[in-house]
Amino acid sequence: MMKTQTQVGNPGNLPTKKDVESFWSAHPCSGSKFRTIEELQDYRYRKDPVIRVFTSGLAKSPADRVLDIGCGQGADISDTLKKYSGTFGGDLSFVSLKNALSYNPSLKGRIVRFDAENLPYKPASFHAIYSHGVIHHSPHIARSVAEIFRILKPGGMGRVLLYSKYSPKGMAVRFCRILFRSEAFRRLLLRCFPNSGSAVDELFLCPVMDMHTRGDIRRLFEKFTGVKIEAWHIGLQHILFLMGLSDQNFLYRTAGSVEAAFERVFGFYWIVTFQKPA
Ligand SMILES: C[S@@+](CC[C@H](N)C(=O)[O-])C[C@H]1O[C@@H](n2cnc3c(N)ncnc32)[C@H](O)[C@@H]1O
Repeated sequence: MMKTQTQVGNPGNLPTKKDVESFWSAHPCSGSKFRTIEELQDYRYRKDPVIRVFTSGLAKSPADRVLDIGCGQGADISDTLKKYSGTFGGDLSFVSLKNALSYNPSLKGRIVRFDAENLPYKPASFHAIYSHGVIHHSPHIARSVAEIFRILKPGGMGRVLLYSKYSPKGMAVRFCRILFRSEAFRRLLLRCFPNSGSAVDELFLCPVMDMHTRGDIRRLFEKFTGVKIEAWHIGLQHILFLMGLSDQNFLYRTAGSVEAAFERVFGFYWIVTFQKPA
């Protein structure tokens, strides 16, 4: 089994699913300050521009069945549903699902509470599956990957976002989680990063935050074919965004150019694309 990294709470033991659910229900992904789904999407796309391309090129026909594992407050699944009539999703967090339904009532009947490690679907039931920043927050990532393999149709495509263990941001995050987990420091960061949404709370309080090397990912996805692992997002622009700088700001735009030049080497996000053998 993959080694779990930088866990907090319940020292010496794996955090439980209840720990995970409680955290994400208390801190829904991106925060709770939005009035509409468009506001939530705008925040997410400005915070993480890679989300715009994350779901592209997976499904082929508008009638395909597509699954969003860990749909959070419904930002990405709302766009996916506009393109694919067979879109479904779910999340472990009741509060996130409730918020998703209030932001976008057309998700009713499409999203359910589920556990990525034990999905309530028959084998080979989806043409495409994606999961953005989810399965590394659950105690047993290999179980989630096995579930994705089970419910994808042969030839079906999938994509997940994971974290890079030895990227500069990965090391900084692990350093902070181990050494600076004090309430005073958390409050200081909340003051310095007024636009942080749920990010500061995730940094310190999220019960499971696994990070992986390329080798870990190759092993996790060894049953799949055509596995492509790309690095994105160094995190420089992200920090300036969380501080509240506008995207017209000179520093913000310069950071964007640095990211574009070096993210393939130093990126914190692994975007992993794969196919179930036909
Ligand atoms: C960082 S958020 C990402 C949410 C969404 N994909 C997004 O990008 O906005 C992580 C999400 O994973 C969900 N999650 C964590 N463990 C899970 C599990 N075992 N099964 C389903 N969802 C889970 C959390 O409830 C939370 O909504």
